[in-house]
Amino acid sequence: MTIPAITLNDGTSFAALGFGTYKLTGDEGTNAVVSAIDNGYRVLDTAVNYGNEAEVGEAVRRSPVDRDELVVTTKIPGRHHGRDEAIASVTGSLQTLGLDRVDLLLIHWPNPSVGKWLETYEGMLEAREQGLVRSVGVSNFTAEMLGRLIDETGVTPAVNQIELHPYFPQAEMRAFHTEHGIRTESWSPLARRSELLAEPVFGRLAEKYGVTPSQVVIRWHVELDATPIPKSADPQRQRENADVFGFSLTADEVAEISALERGRLFDADPNHHEEM
Ligand SMILES: NC(=O)c1ccc[n+]([C@@H]2O[C@H](COP(=O)([O-])OP(=O)(O)OC[C@H]3O[C@@H](n4cnc5c(N)ncnc54)[C@H](OP(=O)(O)O)[C@@H]3O)[C@@H](O)[C@H]2O)c1
Repeated sequence: MTIPAITLNDGTSFAALGFGTYKLTGDEGTNAVVSAIDNGYRVLDTAVNYGNEAEVGEAVRRSPVDRDELVVTTKIPGRHHGRDEAIASVTGSLQTLGLDRVDLLLIHWPNPSVGKWLETYEGMLEAREQGLVRSVGVSNFTAEMLGRLIDETGVTPAVNQIELHPYFPQAEMRAFHTEHGIRTESWSPLARRSELLAEPVFGRLAEKYGVTPSQVVIRWHVELDATPIPKSADPQRQRENADVFGFSLTADEVAEISALERGRLFDADPNHHEEM
């Protein structure tokens, strides 16, 4: 399966669809990531706080796919915020991953009450200077935070990974990203922990296009020009989730799906929700 490549604002290669790894741990986790790469995924999404960087790194080494074709993403946790702490964090991640470069490094949550995301980002830029990191980005940043980051450092993040699914389509954030050349990456793209896939619209469109409800949801992300990162431990579902480039949705269908909007899955507003 070939997943289309796209180019980030720093000129590096990314993909229209990536692979989430939250909860993929141990040998089963490693095997699931190996199988995802085998099934065509090139963007891999881990984090210090997922406790599976070792598994992801092992899968990268075990896979026959060339290291340079993969975009290994990890994230700096709240407890590592600060300039020097950010450099120490990515150095630790590289050790755990067993790799010599992180392709995309994100700030996992801004944690406004800690007030150190700007210094953290400066540390990430330093890590990029040192060749430890190829691209820098953020996760769960608001438009206001992004504006400040750009004004104060002059470096627009390549990516903002945000909660995005049909129940929370984030039209304003996506418009801000487009305006500033920031790639939108969708976390929980299938709205884990909800009954999203049972919504009638997905059954109806799945039948129309001869696909599954999950494929309709994932195609909706592609139509929005966001990069979804569905997680599945199951090789068959991994293939299903990646096989969304042979059909498209009409503008009316995209709008009908976006009209399912009802808000966040849980109370993860980055102005208040913090993770260490
Ligand atoms: N930056 C952040 O703050 C943040 C927050 C949350 C998540 N993330 C990232 O985003 C990734 C994806 O989000 P997520 O893991 O929360 O949720 P998700 O990808 O929306 O959904 C994953 C769930 O859906 C199931 N599933 C996958 N494909 C399916 C299919 N074709 N049909 C039916 N069920 C299917 C999976 O089960 P099986 O594994 O059994 O298939 C799993 O239970 C994470 O893994 C993580 O990398 C980032």
